[in-house]
Amino acid sequence: MMMKMGKKNIPENNLAAEGLTVEGFTPTDHDHGSHDHGNYDHGNYDHGNYDHSGHDHGGNPFAHAALSGVPYTSYLDFSANINPLGMPKSAIRAARKALAELSGHYPEPTYHELRQAAAAAWEVPAENIVAGNGAGELLDATCRLAAWQEAVVFTPTYSEYARAARRAGLPVRCLPAFHPDHLPSSSLLKELPTPELKPRSLIFVCQPNNPTGTLVSREALAVLARIAAQKEGLLVVDESFLAFCPEEAACSSLPLLFSGLPVLVIRSLTKIYGMPGLRLGLSIAAPETAKALQAALPPWNVNSVAAAAGSAALVEREFLTLTRERLTRWRVRLVKKLTSAAAGGTLLQPLPAAANFLLTKITSEHWSSPQLTAALAKELVLVRDCRSFPELGERYIRLAVRRPADQDRLLAALTRLTVRPEP
Ligand SMILES: Cc1ncc(COP(=O)(O)O)c(C=O)c1O
Repeated sequence: MMMKMGKKNIPENNLAAEGLTVEGFTPTDHDHGSHDHGNYDHGNYDHGNYDHSGHDHGGNPFAHAALSGVPYTSYLDFSANINPLGMPKSAIRAARKALAELSGHYPEPTYHELRQAAAAAWEVPAENIVAGNGAGELLDATCRLAAWQEAVVFTPTYSEYARAARRAGLPVRCLPAFHPDHLPSSSLLKELPTPELKPRSLIFVCQPNNPTGTLVSREALAVLARIAAQKEGLLVVDESFLAFCPEEAACSSLPLLFSGLPVLVIRSLTKIYGMPGLRLGLSIAAPETAKALQAALPPWNVNSVAAAAGSAALVEREFLTLTRERLTRWRVRLVKKLTSAAAGGTLLQPLPAAANFLLTKITSEHWSSPQLTAALAKELVLVRDCRSFPELGERYIRLAVRRPADQDRLLAALTRLTVRPEP
């Protein structure tokens, strides 16, 4: 049953406490504050802003619904990059069965079935796999699994690498690598800057990178892994969106890990299998690293429903093929439509991308990213304002690739906005 979450459900004074205004989100009010998650502890996850705080991520129609009084289900959410095909049917069946049969028991503590399913799907031994309550939990635990000296991140990138490192007390070094002005004209980046590493450093790479949708060549990742090896460090490659890419086999870092280099791969199952609310992620690492990671996690960290859904989803090879084929086609369609004269052609320019989302430049000087985001929210279309990625300023939004009918709703909203002379 769908839950209605309107303004009436949240007392007026709590709206201010949640950092919301009648105009919509005010993410920068929080993005540049202290490292205090208090104001945003129930959402507004910010998957940008690695430098500061505030959880201004995409995927929060609830906050908009709380402001507007419109049910959250009426919003079309382009701000979170979730598979528009939804969960595989077998995963829904498995989740229902687990809810009926397993909820009265603690989860099987080793997640044997889930790890076996992942091992078979990814052709790796199950002893290398650790289950997490979303990739987010695994990022956190990775930062706590050894006495790391610092964390290195390549920016602009997913903010949780730096946040997880800071939560673990690590200094964070940001190396600019994905600024749109310096990216290649294709979606593949051949080299990353090579840092002078302190001993026992963590290096984070997002593959493909959020928010730019750029893939990094395996050669560039191998260079980083070798540098990490010299310094007893660890290269953490977040492949949470790689399953959407036809280039997965050529761009995964699993071969680097199994060649003996210090690499840990993290894969979220929430995006590709359309289950962000269930929470599920897996790490693949050398057996001793996997053991240490497991020890850094609480017992029963994954619930039985998510574990059952994940076990069923991982078997679905055709679902992946279909997802890649459709989303690649739909991404090309979205780029074409966005740049066509009819719908915002003078307003938006998407960057070349390999993933299921598009970092998109606002080319019209009449609109900033917060203005456009707020105006689209009034049209019940949510997009990710990228100003929380400091390098991107107020000139970028990020759009998830969704079905053609949903794209048409976005394009119609953009057309309505562009006929107006001023925001
Ligand atoms: C690059 C990247 N990694 C990991 C995550 C978190 O994934 P999960 O939902 O599995 O915690 C996100 C969520 O947006 C993401 O963008």
